[in-house]
Amino acid sequence: PTPSEIPVLGTVYPADAYTNITPTIAAKLTRRLHAQDGHPIATLRGLIESHFPDYAHLSSLSPIVTPHQNFDSLSFPADHPGRAKTDSYYINKDYMLRTHTSAHEVDVFTSGSERWLLTADVYRRDEIDASHYPVFHQTEGAKIFQTDAASLEAVEEDSRRLERELAQSNIVIEDVPHLSSTNPAQSVHNPRHSEIAAKNLKLSLNSLMYTLFGGVAGATKEDPLRVRWIEAFFPFTSPSYEVEVFFRGKWLEILGCGVVAQPTLDRSNVVNKMGWAFGLGLERIAMVLYSIPDIRLFWSEDERFLSQFSQGKINTFKPYSKYPASYRDVSLWLPSDGLHDNDVYDLVRDVAGDLVEDVAIIDRFTHPKTERQSMTVRTNFRSMDRSLVKDEVNELQAQVQSRLKEQFRVEIR
Ligand code: PHE
Repeated sequence: PTPSEIPVLGTVYPADAYTNITPTIAAKLTRRLHAQDGHPIATLRGLIESHFPDYAHLSSLSPIVTPHQNFDSLSFPADHPGRAKTDSYYINKDYMLRTHTSAHEVDVFTSGSERWLLTADVYRRDEIDASHYPVFHQTEGAKIFQTDAASLEAVEEDSRRLERELAQSNIVIEDVPHLSSTNPAQSVHNPRHSEIAAKNLKLSLNSLMYTLFGGVAGATKEDPLRVRWIEAFFPFTSPSYEVEVFFRGKWLEILGCGVVAQPTLDRSNVVNKMGWAFGLGLERIAMVLYSIPDIRLFWSEDERFLSQFSQGKINTFKPYSKYPASYRDVSLWLPSDGLHDNDVYDLVRDVAGDLVEDVAIIDRFTHPKTERQSMTVRTNFRSMDRSLVKDEVNELQAQVQSRLKEQFRVEIR
């Protein structure tokens, strides 16, 4: 049974058919890891802010936004899959938890800021494992400028400065053309201006990557930091790119970026200007910089985790002994109208919170005669800070089963 009202961050909202924010998720809204002194996420935010000292540094915007802010203001099409309630958290049809920091682009541009960084917690319904968690942090950055000759020359001068700086650094960049037929300038832009913006974007971010990874990676002439640019697509930038960094033997996806879609600036009442924006995920970067093996650890309030870190310092995390894991399986017949995997993940997370290490659908089949669909869900339970006893795990699993029956009308096989 869905309650008719739902309180979130001190305001009571009417619930409706969209409401899917769970108490476990609601409890994360006040944690603000990016503002917790000494926390790896706060240190990473600080490093990025120090790299862009003359930018406005924002970090206190409410996570509650409208679908208009999160999607429409950024030119997402009406049928974009991210809008589905299986993929995003809705308070009701009019309010949701931001899925990315880009949700604030129009607000910040409207405020008149021309160079800014914004760090915040973002929310996405997803699978659960060591590298996926329904809450994570992003830093958005943007710079806009006028397109008269003198302003463009100032951007190019900044690019030349960055080029000189990068020429002194042990960094190797695999680039893509600024513009191509599959990654074009916007029709309202002079392609030469678009190239100037793209070039300044790339140099600014290559320089940031060297600040973040160059030192820790111990980049040397023989073993330089490797950064790779890839064409991408976002509804709110063109051209668009993704950046990957080669670190400890793997290519890591670090960020998305591009030349800001002119309709975004139009909606912000910004005239005669263009610019670039990027959005970068903090957890993935912090996990490699600090060797933190499980994304849930960022949420730990255990002193054995927190005491290892201090603000502004990157050090290697020393794992403390893991408590034993126990898994439980349940096989279900799905209701005739189906059941989304994300509904299963959220239900398990809501019952067991951070006692869930991961949830996997380990088997699926359709009965050949009745065509009924079945799945087997395996939940791995483990606490970060104590041993779970068998009875407690059984009780959690019993709750998972009864809620699956009540909420989704599944039949346990
Ligand atoms: N918001 C995008 C994401 O979350 C990243 C992005 C930000 C891309 C700004 C382009 C410009 O994936």
